Amino acid sequence: MRRTYTSSAQPAVVVMARGPQGGGMDFFDGHLPACPARVLDAGCGDGALADRLRARGYEVTAIDIDPALARPGVRIADICGFRDAPYDAVVFSLSLHHVADLDSALDTTRSLLWPGGRLLLDEFAHEYADDAIADRFYAAPGSLPRWKERHREYHTGTAMVEAVARRFAITSLARVPYLHRYLEDESVRDAESVLGLQVVAEPRPPA
Ligand SMILES: C[S@@+](CC[C@H](N)C(=O)[O-])C[C@H]1O[C@@H](n2cnc3c(N)ncnc32)[C@H](O)[C@@H]1O
Repeated sequence: MRRTYTSSAQPAVVVMARGPQGGGMDFFDGHLPACPARVLDAGCGDGALADRLRARGYEVTAIDIDPALARPGVRIADICGFRDAPYDAVVFSLSLHHVADLDSALDTTRSLLWPGGRLLLDEFAHEYADDAIADRFYAAPGSLPRWKERHREYHTGTAMVEAVARRFAITSLARVPYLHRYLEDESVRDAESVLGLQVVAEPRPPA
């Protein structure tokens, strides 16, 4: 079962399934502003998403804190305190749960967006995992304690959503399948239909 929530008067967004090759592209395709638009990919990893967005016509700045990921099209920078001209959208794809200082990252994100710009968060909420999910992940029974230990250092989905909500108006929040994407196994979907978390938010107007 897929659950979809919304915190505003806008209709909830029905998030479609992600293809095994496409990652969260359905989500980004559905929520990014139309081109031309400036997009910041925060915590871009190998830059694959940034490349896909560039292929769609977006002007993308892709940053990652890990110097080992430097390559053309990827800048090495910390999202916390990152300064640049305003963006139409800032995207975090499976990266915000890794960022050490959640509040600083989201303060920076808000400062980087035009009024009316968007934060897109394609994440997962490790605390939603149950025995079935953990056992599937490790292919072994009784794996939930191991799952919890593995993810202990990462921000929970709840913490990320609360931190976003303190600074942004959340226009859509959906819990969706995630693990099939990590395991590249579509058959996992039914067992983990709510692990993924997709959030669209806009900066709150100044008080
Ligand atoms: C799980 S990877 C996700 C990579 C990519 N976005 C994806 O969807 O495959 C998380 C990335 O976030 C990066 N990261 C963590 N903290 C960061 C920060 N403060 N600023 C920028 N990048 C950060 C890590 O270096 C890592 O490459």
